[in-house]
Amino acid sequence: MKKKYFIETQGCQMNEYDSDKMKDLLSKEMDFENTNNKEDADILIVNTCSIREKAQEKVFSLLGKWRKLKNKKPDLVIGVAGCVASQESTAITSRAPYVDMVIGPQTIHRLPKIYEQSLKSKSTIVDVEFPLIEKFDNLPRLSNSKFSEFVTIMEGCSKYCSYCVVPYTRGTEVSRPLNDILKEIENLVENGTKEITLLGQNVNAYFYKDKEGNIVNFGLLLFYIARDKRIKRIRYTTSHPNNFDEQTYLAYEKIPQLVSHLHLPIQSGSDKVLAAMKRGYTVLEYKSVIRKLRKARPDITFSSDFIVGFPGETEKDFMKTIDIIKEVNFDQSYSFIYSKRPGTPASAIEDNISLKEKKERLNFLQETINQLSKNKSKSILGEKEEILVEGVSSKYNNMVTGRTKNNKIISIPGNKNLIGEILDIKITELNNRSLKGEVFEK
Ligand code: 5AD
Ligand code: SF4
Repeated sequence: MKKKYFIETQGCQMNEYDSDKMKDLLSKEMDFENTNNKEDADILIVNTCSIREKAQEKVFSLLGKWRKLKNKKPDLVIGVAGCVASQESTAITSRAPYVDMVIGPQTIHRLPKIYEQSLKSKSTIVDVEFPLIEKFDNLPRLSNSKFSEFVTIMEGCSKYCSYCVVPYTRGTEVSRPLNDILKEIENLVENGTKEITLLGQNVNAYFYKDKEGNIVNFGLLLFYIARDKRIKRIRYTTSHPNNFDEQTYLAYEKIPQLVSHLHLPIQSGSDKVLAAMKRGYTVLEYKSVIRKLRKARPDITFSSDFIVGFPGETEKDFMKTIDIIKEVNFDQSYSFIYSKRPGTPASAIEDNISLKEKKERLNFLQETINQLSKNKSKSILGEKEEILVEGVSSKYNNMVTGRTKNNKIISIPGNKNLIGEILDIKITELNNRSLKGEVFEK
């Protein structure tokens, strides 16, 4: 009988991606099989995130529960992977010595070896180095044919925003060699993938110099990828306003597969707060990026990340964030209450805003965006759109859901045979916040 694994994933898309790769290693190289039941598992891994909240305590409380399982089943192997592993490896080995493996975000490809070592050793095996290119080289290629796939093109961040742990947990920006990316994409496309999402903490900081000294930046990379016309849609996340250049604007003019939707975090609409956050741009500079993108691609829509309640943010600063939301017309957001992260420069600044105030600001911001999103949905009623069908609807019987290029989710009548199809549809109904449509009859 095969041994079983259980992986719990916290946090961002990078973590989802890393967990998928660990699952691949476990099933293809280590001959394990997946289980959804922790009690059945022979190996338990939590892939952690430390970007917000009291991440460390959350991990220790989960490990406390897993310890009880290990008491019943002494051969059980417990692993902690991801950003908390990277930041708190010493705390883990001292507070939870029953953990067998501590694996950083850049060493997940070493899982089979770390596992072997842990079976032989009585103490915790810790591997939290940053040997980035090695990770990219050694990860198995996903071979299941999905229609929409993620491809990591770079990792890490060198921006050092004053509130953020990412540069410390995932390391500085490192880009993958061009040919490796193109090969991985080709492989996916041959398996039926139609939509590629390029992934990285700062995808548009992509910078690769080949042996001959030729430089490939993000814009050029888009042109290389788009040459394969079997790729119908190209998305990317997350980008930084300071890394947009002429080549990327040109890509929006020339590459039809590049979708008309961009997630471009602004964080705040106040120059004073942006400076304290060390974001490296002013509101005017951010707006100039938006203006150039709209010039190249008039129907482009934007979503953003926001942090409310950053230390020193006044009501007036917050209202400037609301102003920019209305001005840019963001129709989706990921908004967070500022959370003090140990080891970051901002953690030294006194947090002078009450939780009540922060929550009120967050609610107000989210309501503002929801209203804009609803207006946008209303404005596309009756319009023709193209969707890529992604799955059966969890809400409505006999319906499937797909995403438009602008990232709107639409349900249409149909069954699982439609999954993977790119269809022209007409949007017919707005029900609360969800949109319905039907296949467009020519
Ligand atoms: N507190 C709140 N939000 C944060 N983010 C990053 N660090 C923090 C923090 N300390 C948010 C930012 C970023 C997103 C991924 O998480 O908005 O864009
Ligand atoms: Fe964190 Fe700033 Fe880098 Fe984004 S750009 S990962 S917020 S340091």
